[in-house]
Amino acid sequence: MSAFVSAPIRRVTTRGNLQLSAVSKRFSKRGALILDEVTLNCKPGEFVVVVGPTGSGKSTVLNIAAGMLKADQGEVTLDGEPVSAPGPDRAVVFQEHGLFPWLNAEQNVGFGLKMRGVSKSERNDRVQEALQMVHLAHSAKKLIHEMSGGMRQRVAIARALILNPAVLLMDEPFAALDAQTRTLMHEQLQEIWQETGKTILFITHSVGEAVRLADRVIVMHAHPGRVRKEIPIELPHPRNFDSRDINDIVRHVRTEIEDEVNRVNKHLAEDFWKPEKRTDLGSADRNLGSGI
Ligand SMILES: Nc1ncnc2c1ncn2[C@@H]1O[C@H](COP(=O)(O)OP(=O)(O)OP(=O)(O)O)[C@@H](O)[C@H]1O
Ligand SMILES: [Mg+2]
Repeated sequence: MSAFVSAPIRRVTTRGNLQLSAVSKRFSKRGALILDEVTLNCKPGEFVVVVGPTGSGKSTVLNIAAGMLKADQGEVTLDGEPVSAPGPDRAVVFQEHGLFPWLNAEQNVGFGLKMRGVSKSERNDRVQEALQMVHLAHSAKKLIHEMSGGMRQRVAIARALILNPAVLLMDEPFAALDAQTRTLMHEQLQEIWQETGKTILFITHSVGEAVRLADRVIVMHAHPGRVRKEIPIELPHPRNFDSRDINDIVRHVRTEIEDEVNRVNKHLAEDFWKPEKRTDLGSADRNLGSGI
C-alpha cells in the first residue's frame, strides 16, 4: 500500500510544489503549437487559478500536470520528482463529475481505496472523513441521480481528497452549477483548502471565481498558449466576496482577458478571414443616381 493511501486527509505544507518548466505541446507533428514554453510554479499550499480565452491551452496545461498528456518539450515535476503518468499525489476534478451512477456517494468516494486493497474498516473511517469535509456525511447512502449538481461535485471532491493528494487539479469544476450553488462551493472549497493546505491548480472562465479563490491568477495568451500575465491577489482568506477590493481586482483581470480576446480575434481575422478586394463595386464616391 502506498504512503498516500494510508495517510489520512491532513494538512500538508511541505509537499505540493508543482513545477512546469518551458512546457511545449503540439497534438500532431505538423499541427499548431498549442503550448509554447509554458512555465508555471505552484508553491506548496498555493491556490493558483488559470484563466484565458477558449482554446488557449488551459486544459492541456492541467492534463500535462496530471500526467494524462505528455509534453513534447520541457519538464513537469512534483516536489522535484518528474511527472510522467497519473498518480495518487495529483487528483483531478473535472466539470463532469465522472461518478459511477450505480454506486452511492460513499461507495463512489471509497472506490479508489477499495481498488488499492484498503481494509473495509479503514475505508469506512476515511470515507466518513472525506464526506464530512464536503458536508455530505448525511447523504452517504444517496445514489448519484438522487443528488443535486452541487452535491455531485462535492462527492467528486471527496473522492479526490480521499487519496490525500498533494495537489488538486480542477478543470472548471463549478462551471455547470447555478450562481448560489457556486458561491456555496467557493466557500466550502476555501474551507477545505485552508484545512488541508493542499496546492490547488484551478481553471475557470469566471473572472469573479478566479479572484475570489486565487493567491495568484495566471492569464493565458492564446495561439500559441503562453503565460501572458501573473497577477498576485494579496487579500486574506477566506474572502468577503462582496468587498470593494475584490471588485477592483476583478475589473483589472477582466481587462487583461478582454485585451487578450481582442488580440486573438484580430489575429484570427487577419489570418483566416481576409475578404478579397472587390473591384466590381466601384468607389464610395461613385454616383449611384438619385434613387427612386
Ligand atoms: N486531443 C487533442 N487533439 C488535438 N487537438 C487538441 C486536443 N486537445 C486539445 N486540442 C487543441 O488544443 C487547443 C487548446 O485546447 P484546450 O482544451 O487546452 O483549451 P482550453 O483553454 O482549455 O479551452 P476551453 O476554455 O474551451 O476549455 C485547442 O485548439 C484544441 O482544439
Ligand atoms: Mg478547457
